[in-house]
Amino acid sequence: MHRVRTDDDVHATSYAARWVDRPVPKFRLPTHGLEADAAYHLVHDELNLDGNPALNLASFVTSWMEPQAERLAAETLGKNMIDQDEYPQTEVIHERVIAMIGRLFHAPADARTIGTATIGSSEAIMLALLSHRTSWRNRRRAEGRPIDKPNLVLGADVHTCWEKFTRYFDVEARIAPMKPGHYTLSAADVESRVDENTIAVGALLGTTYSGQIDDLAGIDELLTRLKRERGWHVPLHVDAASGGFLAPFVRPELAWDFRLPSVRSINVSNHKFGLVYPGMGTVVFRDESDLPEELVFHIDYLGGDMPNYSLNFSRPSNTVILQYYNFLRLGREGYTRIAQAMIENAQALTRGLVETGAFVALHDGDTFPVVVVRAQDPSAVDVFAVSDQLRRRGWIVPAYPMRPDAEEIKVLRMVVKESFSRDMVDILLGDVRRALASDHCKPRVSSSPDTPNPARRPIC
Ligand SMILES: Cc1ncc(COP(=O)(O)O)c(C=O)c1O
Repeated sequence: MHRVRTDDDVHATSYAARWVDRPVPKFRLPTHGLEADAAYHLVHDELNLDGNPALNLASFVTSWMEPQAERLAAETLGKNMIDQDEYPQTEVIHERVIAMIGRLFHAPADARTIGTATIGSSEAIMLALLSHRTSWRNRRRAEGRPIDKPNLVLGADVHTCWEKFTRYFDVEARIAPMKPGHYTLSAADVESRVDENTIAVGALLGTTYSGQIDDLAGIDELLTRLKRERGWHVPLHVDAASGGFLAPFVRPELAWDFRLPSVRSINVSNHKFGLVYPGMGTVVFRDESDLPEELVFHIDYLGGDMPNYSLNFSRPSNTVILQYYNFLRLGREGYTRIAQAMIENAQALTRGLVETGAFVALHDGDTFPVVVVRAQDPSAVDVFAVSDQLRRRGWIVPAYPMRPDAEEIKVLRMVVKESFSRDMVDILLGDVRRALASDHCKPRVSSSPDTPNPARRPIC
């Protein structure tokens, strides 16, 4: 949300009036337009103030794709995903992409994969949780029990979108806090919070804060036991935003998906390690029984019958096309190769940081290329100051405190993407060493890390 300004600030004329020969208002629709080249240069130059995506280690989101992919994206820019009758082949491709993802996540082989592309994992998570809330209500109504106190059990390691769901859709959030040294959700954390009003348990394959994995197998075992002993039907939703396109390739033996019987739905961010430009996510359900029919809208006024389950209506279709391109282009072998290269680079970065003697790694990074370190001695090294120093060289490396009750642990997080080469790892390590050697990274009373700059919190 932006508060709209009402003053009449203007862009000054630029390019010595070669193209832009009059003031251009910043906050008011101009009376007259500009030449296309002039408008292009004005906007292009202004965007130079943004950070450089190649040096952005804060975000998981894809910032590079092949030129052939970019060509396809440009060719399909004008196609609205919702117009299924007008763009039937786009819808066929959408279904293929969902089916491929369902199979990758071991959806039951005898069922059609139930799922949809979304704008990102946030929408995918909201759709999954809305359907679990409706199913819970339907079960409770059928049993003649109250439906006024739904709750959701999750760990403090979840992304903001989970808490957003609980606030927007009026569900009690039962959040298991972190503890220093313990940043994931365990079965015991769930057991003390779950009850007959729990619409779902949320657990992560790759946490936003520490890049670790919740105890998915333990939680699944617990929920299976509770179903057997108490008759509670509590679905497990796996947030595989970052891990869904890594674990199947680098740890295929790890049962985190529909191989676990309590897992009824999964989300993944295709725009993270699906290696597609933003914004695309996917939600898939185990089978039809997990998506109550009353939530699916059948739209007929665009021609034909179009079943739709989404929060948005219109949306771009080109990210779905890009995902299809990557699946065909890379295959299992290509995704595995890229994931392994990213993990090796991330491990090299972790080793280099630990070798400075200033940092301790929170995990060994064998599954996710996400480097998370804390200061070995926080009275000697301020991670917020390190982040600031690196920013001076153009690197975007967020520093943040862990979630309650582990706020005293402050970390730096670096997501090593496909475009981040070993050479870049070495250059970054050189800059870290230089920053540490300067006086700037020592804690100062004035740079209180208790109120970190929100821009340096972890982002998707
Ligand atoms: C674990 C996790 N879940 C959900 C999200 C939200 O994903 P998106 O940005 O695709 O909406 C993120 C973003 O980083 C994430 O890391």
